[in-house]
Amino acid sequence: MTIDRLKEVVGNSTSLRGWVMGKRTGKGLVFLIVRDGSGMCQCIVDETKVSAQTFEDAKRITQESSLRINGTVVADERQVGGYELHVTGLEIIGESVDYPITPKEHGVDFLMDHRHLWLRSKRQWAILRIRNTIIMAIHEFFQGEGFIQTDAPIFTGNAVEGTSTLFETDFYGEPAYLSQSGQLYGEAMAMAFGKIYTFGPTFRAEKSKTRRHLSEFWMIEPEMAFHDLSMNMDVIERFLRHVVLHVLAKNQMELEMIGRDTAVLRQVTETFPRIPYEDAVAILKGEKEVNGQNAVKTLEADMESAKSRLEAVLADIADREAKLKTPGMKKGEIGFHQAKVQQLKEEQAELEETLRNIPLWLKSAREFRMGNDFGGSDETVITRLFNTPIMVYNWPHEVKAFYMKRDENDPRWAKGVDVLAPEGYGEIVGGGERETNFDWLVEKINEHQLPMEAFEWYLDLRRYGSVPHSGFGLGLERLVAWVCKLPHVRETIPFPRMYGRIAP
Ligand code: 4AD
Ligand code: MG
Repeated sequence: MTIDRLKEVVGNSTSLRGWVMGKRTGKGLVFLIVRDGSGMCQCIVDETKVSAQTFEDAKRITQESSLRINGTVVADERQVGGYELHVTGLEIIGESVDYPITPKEHGVDFLMDHRHLWLRSKRQWAILRIRNTIIMAIHEFFQGEGFIQTDAPIFTGNAVEGTSTLFETDFYGEPAYLSQSGQLYGEAMAMAFGKIYTFGPTFRAEKSKTRRHLSEFWMIEPEMAFHDLSMNMDVIERFLRHVVLHVLAKNQMELEMIGRDTAVLRQVTETFPRIPYEDAVAILKGEKEVNGQNAVKTLEADMESAKSRLEAVLADIADREAKLKTPGMKKGEIGFHQAKVQQLKEEQAELEETLRNIPLWLKSAREFRMGNDFGGSDETVITRLFNTPIMVYNWPHEVKAFYMKRDENDPRWAKGVDVLAPEGYGEIVGGGERETNFDWLVEKINEHQLPMEAFEWYLDLRRYGSVPHSGFGLGLERLVAWVCKLPHVRETIPFPRMYGRIAP
């Protein structure tokens, strides 16, 4: 039996196999939290109801030991998963001695070094199950809309998104690069199949440590023949709505486990604002308001409230630490104050980070010039004002890739779209309409100093039955990070690869 199916056997005896996540002992009782990959279940071992050997085993079993455990299934809404097991017998399968990840707080580096074990923790389990739902919902959406999944190669001969982030490798003595986007191949396949999507690993040498960048991530890249920019945005909106609603329907338990407030996610049913780049710049600079909110003034106000909250937090910590020095304090009260101090210190760290960040964000907004590309902090400033993803379109052609279609009526603008996730998250999707003007495309390839001969096959797509077409790329980990409201993308993928991290 697996824990996710316990509801089928309530009142009956059953057998589970799994690992011990936690243990509490009471008088004549041992409470084991057992996980088996499908869920978690509290198992109660009562000294009066099991053999002396079983009770001894239950008392000595350690965190992350594996076991087989038998008992009667009882429904109990208050428990994780809603059921508990009244144990009749257990057998230890594999001992676990000095498991390194204990219930106490660990630093991020320590956890990352133990990623192979960290994956077993409740929070990581919940996040990666949500990732799984998102993956399945992505396939379901595209398959349901008549797209064909056709994968692009990983070894490639040329750059798609600029040459600076390429990982070079050796392909039988020839230099080759790991794919930084499957798009150009996607365009070829769209001319064969109409509507396609690729779903593959993507590699970018991003030599900086940010909360949004991985060196290896998964990108979903649909490409559609006979679609212009506005049809592209329609697809993006339906797509993201479908995926988020799917998570809300399937992963209530997981979202609750990670403490995700789902009110914002539920707003994906609302229309996503479509904002021309120029208006987005005005919002960033506080020259244009969003629902009566001014980006710059909001930041200044947040700065003030963070300052006063920090003062209150520091005073509270000092107060409790002084109290903890009083002689004769009861054990329970000591524990209460210590836990509270721990919590307050976490809040202190967050507030201090906010106080460090806001001045940087304000500076970046102040110095932003029309025509620039948005940096991560600019996206944060803009999207803090929204509760749904927004679509920023019509970009200065200079900041966009060579393949982006320029507006025939006003060639200053490229028909690109970036989708920025709300709550300060920023870009999760980049896409647009593709250039079909042969001469302009050739001009751009030269301007970007790309080797023309490597793009001859791509130009063939414009030589033989060229049609208007569009597409986009979704960064899977960025979407998971927003849906789960995580501070960093490193927890959205089982084994993250990023600058300074290739193990485990
Ligand atoms: O905006 P990007 O660079 O667009 C493209 O690659 C296009 N060729 C896609 C297309 O139109 N077919 O990347 C697309 C998305 C970004 O919006 C972001 O979500 C994600 O890929 N992404 C990253 N995610 C994690 N780590 C990185 N280093 C990322 N770089 C891009
Ligand atoms: Mg982009």
